[in-house]
Amino acid sequence: MYITVSSLVTGILVATTAGVSAIPTKPGKRNSHVRRNVELGPRPEYLINDMDEGWLKNRLSSCLDKKVVTTKFSIGHRGGACLQFPEETLESHTAGIRMGAGIEECDVAFTKDRELVCRHDQCDLHTTTNIVTTPLGAKCTTPFTPASGGNAATAKCCTSDITLAEFKTLCGKMDGFNASATTPEDYLNGTPNWRTDLYSTCATVLSHKEFIRFVDAQGLHFTSELKQPRVPMPFQGNYTTQQYEQQIVDEYIEAGIHPSRVWLQSFVFEDVAYWLRHAPAFGKQAIFLDQSGDGPGTIESAAANLTFYKNAGVRIVGPPLPYLVSVDAKGKYVPSRYATTAKKLGLDIITWSLERSGPLVQAVGKGDYYYSTILNGTHRDGDIFRLVDVLARRVGVLGIFSDWSATVTFYANCFGLF
Ligand SMILES: *[C@@H]1O[C@H](CO)[C@@H](O)[C@H](O)[C@H]1NC(C)=O
Ligand SMILES: *[C@@H]1O[C@H](CO)[C@@H](O)[C@H](O)[C@H]1NC(C)=O
Ligand SMILES: *[C@@H]1O[C@H](CO)[C@@H](O)[C@H](O)[C@H]1NC(C)=O
Ligand SMILES: *[C@@H]1O[C@H](CO)[C@@H](O)[C@H](O)[C@H]1NC(C)=O
Repeated sequence: MYITVSSLVTGILVATTAGVSAIPTKPGKRNSHVRRNVELGPRPEYLINDMDEGWLKNRLSSCLDKKVVTTKFSIGHRGGACLQFPEETLESHTAGIRMGAGIEECDVAFTKDRELVCRHDQCDLHTTTNIVTTPLGAKCTTPFTPASGGNAATAKCCTSDITLAEFKTLCGKMDGFNASATTPEDYLNGTPNWRTDLYSTCATVLSHKEFIRFVDAQGLHFTSELKQPRVPMPFQGNYTTQQYEQQIVDEYIEAGIHPSRVWLQSFVFEDVAYWLRHAPAFGKQAIFLDQSGDGPGTIESAAANLTFYKNAGVRIVGPPLPYLVSVDAKGKYVPSRYATTAKKLGLDIITWSLERSGPLVQAVGKGDYYYSTILNGTHRDGDIFRLVDVLARRVGVLGIFSDWSATVTFYANCFGLF
């Protein structure tokens, strides 16, 4: 198995280097003074206007002029505003929080000097920052190579290629690239037309510590996802997976954050098992992200495996949207077998990610992964609220990750989910 003597040794090492810090014993009232006008903008109303007539549309319409507040049901994916703001940046968090997200996400990757930073993937700097147009581009795992003779332009730049200080000189931009680019400058262009570059003007990239400080100052909750290393571990010969797992926890402890405000996540069961065993105060609220039904398994086999995770001490599972919802003979969205199995086992559920695939009907037309089990029942963009409704009231999820927090915040306020 994965948890061995070396992880115990690591645990001891970390405990000594972490020094005086101890897990706070009480949640406390840190920054509970923060007052905030939550603003949702025009999108919820636009979507309601696009719904089929019926009680849900009427109910949601009746909430349009209600005052709204922050809710943990609304989880800011990559900050919660990546439809318009560069992901995993201060600007995306700021906008997601303004739209009422009560839990903010940092996807965690490590740098060459083993500092933790927020990035959706350890190796996405070439599509989410301006690195290829800076001198740091030369340090990339694969520096920029122009398109030529029918071959696409290439680049691969990882957080582990550079130090934290170097990372902090980069500008966050909208995710995308131009495969036909013959220059590094042209390579940066490639934002899908349903997003915008309006705010892609050098967004602020963040270390995990900066993320914790910022979200703490807002008095909100945190979710850190341990992103799988894209380099062989142990990195540089002695940075182990267990050190990486522990370092994420230690940064919360050092910042004095009570574990009840922290929702750790990983797709790898052994990471969650590590936290359950070595940092149980944090482990008990950790989310096991379950994508095991994507092949060679099926959603049915993933559902069959839930018992194993439950017995191992996992309390929250995080499957993607399509695992939880299917369509009945009348075209209605209904909870899937996976969803009912998880509930029967007493597992809590969070799910991901809404608003990341562009206009719903367009996404469904392309067979988009996130809507793959509801393709048949989906006809208009306003159906997104039918999806949120079945997840909230029939499946009973704890919260929904979204790339545009206003939609989920609006629904949650209308139905009193806080
Ligand atoms: C993509 O790159 C090619 C070649 O450099 C350039 O001609 C084209 O304008 C670029 N596209 C965009 C959207 O910048
Ligand atoms: C890890 O290995 C590096 C050399 O790659 C060395 O400089 C460093 O002291 C080692 N750290 C520990 C904690 O063993
Ligand atoms: C179910 O769990 C078993 C045991 O951990 C594993 O071998 C198998 O790959 C899992 N199947 C799926 C679909 O996750
Ligand atoms: C959609 O409906 C068609 C026709 O009833 C059926 O053949 C197909 O399997 C359905 N697709 C999904 C994803 O349910």
